[in-house]
Amino acid sequence: MIVLGIETSCDETGVAIYDSERGLLADCLYSQVALHAKYGGVIPELASRDHIRKTLPLIQEVIEKAGIERSAIDGVAYTAGPGLVGALLVGAAIGRALGMGWNVPTIGVHHMEGHLLAPMLEAEPPQFPFVALLVSGGHTQLVAVQGIGQYTLLGESLDDAAGEAFDKVGKMLDLPYPGGPHVAKLAREGQSGRFRFPRPMTNRPGLDFSFSGLKTFVRNTIAESRDANGELDNQTRADIARAFEEAVVATLAIKCRRALEHTGMKTLIIAGGVSANVHLREVLGATVAKVQARLFYAQPRYCTDNGAMIAYAGCQRLLAGQQDDLAIRAQPRWSLETLPPLPAQDPKAKLQA
Ligand code: KG4
Ligand code: ZN
Repeated sequence: MIVLGIETSCDETGVAIYDSERGLLADCLYSQVALHAKYGGVIPELASRDHIRKTLPLIQEVIEKAGIERSAIDGVAYTAGPGLVGALLVGAAIGRALGMGWNVPTIGVHHMEGHLLAPMLEAEPPQFPFVALLVSGGHTQLVAVQGIGQYTLLGESLDDAAGEAFDKVGKMLDLPYPGGPHVAKLAREGQSGRFRFPRPMTNRPGLDFSFSGLKTFVRNTIAESRDANGELDNQTRADIARAFEEAVVATLAIKCRRALEHTGMKTLIIAGGVSANVHLREVLGATVAKVQARLFYAQPRYCTDNGAMIAYAGCQRLLAGQQDDLAIRAQPRWSLETLPPLPAQDPKAKLQA
């Protein structure tokens, strides 16, 4: 089965073509980062309008790149939520309309399920069951995964998401938007140990997170470190970035280990934009080794928002016979736990007639 995937939940227009027999055929991504950079964050109305401009030409491009005829597409998957409602509606309307015009089934995909399944695109995919750490700009969640659609939320952030904390600290350090990758780059030049920030909520039981206090801690440290002219020297900025990254990563690692011990599972996957973070990957690699578990993640381009993860997730659900009715739906808020399970877990299972 060949599925077109469309992702428009935030500030990236992502499209891809996934074939259940041959794997990912092509993907194209247009990032709106330059459009929003001058505002220091995503402006929803601008995001929606840009998705309208970019989605159809990008679909044309990805079909050409995949080297297939349009008529070879057997289904369309689009992100139906969570995300910015206007941005979601663009992908949903285009996806639904193409499905109707081409007379193929369509399916609205949960954005975080897309992220969660992205490691399945790799040559050596993880096997169910596993613990998933979802770390994006909007979510920080630990999920026990028995199979596709069989999700139990173990813990989540009570305030800022990990990516959001990275972005806010980036702003405090005068780094471009989105701050995450820039903070990570600056942290590499920082000296470990000069500052030590708290590891929030790790000294009490449970698997929830809170990053807003850590953010305040960073803000205070920046204020205290300014010289008489209010300047922050470059080494201090790097040292602060380093201490912040270490605190977030150590906190995530403590909770991941706890989640593995709590569930008895031996596989951890990490997904979402922050899972591209090299320090996080290294520390979690060492953490899972201590408990004889294994770590899986997607290549960096499939950690951040992309169409490939939506095409993959949608393909699995369409193969199992699930599909949308004619309504165009977008769900800005949507719990992973409400998703229907997949009856057949064999990814090569054929669409039931
Ligand atoms: O999954 P994603 O592309 O979009 C959402 O669904 O939110 O995640 C974006 C988030 C942003 O907060 C971005 O700063 C963060 O992921 N991010 C990173 C890195 N790359 C992206 N954070 C830390 N280190 C990175 N290397
Ligand atoms: Zn995302």
